[in-house]
Amino acid sequence: MAFYRYLGRPLLFRTDPEWAHQTLLHTLHRLNLHTDHWLKVWVRQQLTYHHLALHQQIWGYHFPNPVGLAAGFDKDGLGIGWWADLGFGFAELGTVTPEPQPGQPRPRLFRLAADQAIINRMGFNNRGVLHLQEQLQRAFVRHKPTIPLGINLGKGQATPLEYAWKDYLYSFRQLKTWGDYFVVNVSSPNTPGLRELQNRSLLIPILENLQQENTDGKPLLLKLSPDLPEETLLELLDLVRAYRLAGVIATNTTTARPPDLRSRHRHESGGLSGRPLAARSTELIHFIYRQTQGQLPIIGVGGIFSAADAWEKITAGACLLQIYTGWVYQGPGVVRQILTGLVEKLTEHGLSSLSQAVGLQHRQSGGELT
Ligand SMILES: Cc1cc2nc3c(=O)[nH]c(=O)nc-3n(C[C@H](O)[C@H](O)[C@H](O)COP(=O)(O)O)c2cc1C
Repeated sequence: MAFYRYLGRPLLFRTDPEWAHQTLLHTLHRLNLHTDHWLKVWVRQQLTYHHLALHQQIWGYHFPNPVGLAAGFDKDGLGIGWWADLGFGFAELGTVTPEPQPGQPRPRLFRLAADQAIINRMGFNNRGVLHLQEQLQRAFVRHKPTIPLGINLGKGQATPLEYAWKDYLYSFRQLKTWGDYFVVNVSSPNTPGLRELQNRSLLIPILENLQQENTDGKPLLLKLSPDLPEETLLELLDLVRAYRLAGVIATNTTTARPPDLRSRHRHESGGLSGRPLAARSTELIHFIYRQTQGQLPIIGVGGIFSAADAWEKITAGACLLQIYTGWVYQGPGVVRQILTGLVEKLTEHGLSSLSQAVGLQHRQSGGELT
């Protein structure tokens, strides 16, 4: 961690953020090493952490730890063979759209270092479903991934909203054998109109068609925006129930700009992630946990930088977590640091497994789950 903070990050943050990101992914992709290769063994030794208390069985899958890679980092599945070695307990690929698309014009990715945040308006730049399918096929032939893989689905930029369901259905059909869970992403702020798909009349055909196609009962999740009013959230939770979704992801990036942001890029348009998102995302987790009586699995994401942040989200009601901006700021050692910190927290509270900590704040406050 110190090496990254004092040397890695200062060097990295002098480079263009998108260049740095692409270089890392392409390096991982080219270093297509066998699991027993010394470099992989070394990386694994440095960055992974195993503890029985962190194991969970969710949707019939084994999660070796609760910290996953958030969507958007590996949109094209270039790093599939590495995420477990880098310490993650699961990884979510995508957002993927049916056809390849370039995304928004550059620059479209900004570091807000003084705020420990990122603003992005990437606009689902990705190589399309068939490319991702090929990456998955290759990875499975070489070595079946040892952690659950989620796939995040989006709509193509040019697809009219009323036909959006066709995009989700097509991508799901092509990828359903490869993913362990699938995410309906209707909450990214950078594809014009996408967030309108959070309206009942547009979301219903998406969920209906996906569940009809979903004969193997793969877990389908909905990724939520932090900018939704309570009323809309309640409507969405009704649909989650009606269409038997397996869980929700809270949250995507926000278009809100807290008044205390300091970085010069704070007025760039796009989605804000990192520290300034943490409280709002946790608030949403609390709300969903209460509304669903703790019965719906929640993946908590937004501004996780430390074990304390992770604990806050777990005890608010998230059984799994994801991280993006925190990984960029704290470096790859942060996953292990979070995991060791979580085990310490469990011990402090006299708990023997992570699942006992999920929603703990609600039970401790004696709060009625309404
Ligand atoms: C550069 C960037 C690109 C992202 N792309 C996607 C995406 O394609 N699909 C998606 O669902 N979320 C995307 N996200 C949102 C993250 O998955 C996550 O929900 C959000 O950043 C909050 O987590 P964090 O504070 O740990 O970054 C992106 C985030 C960033 C910073």
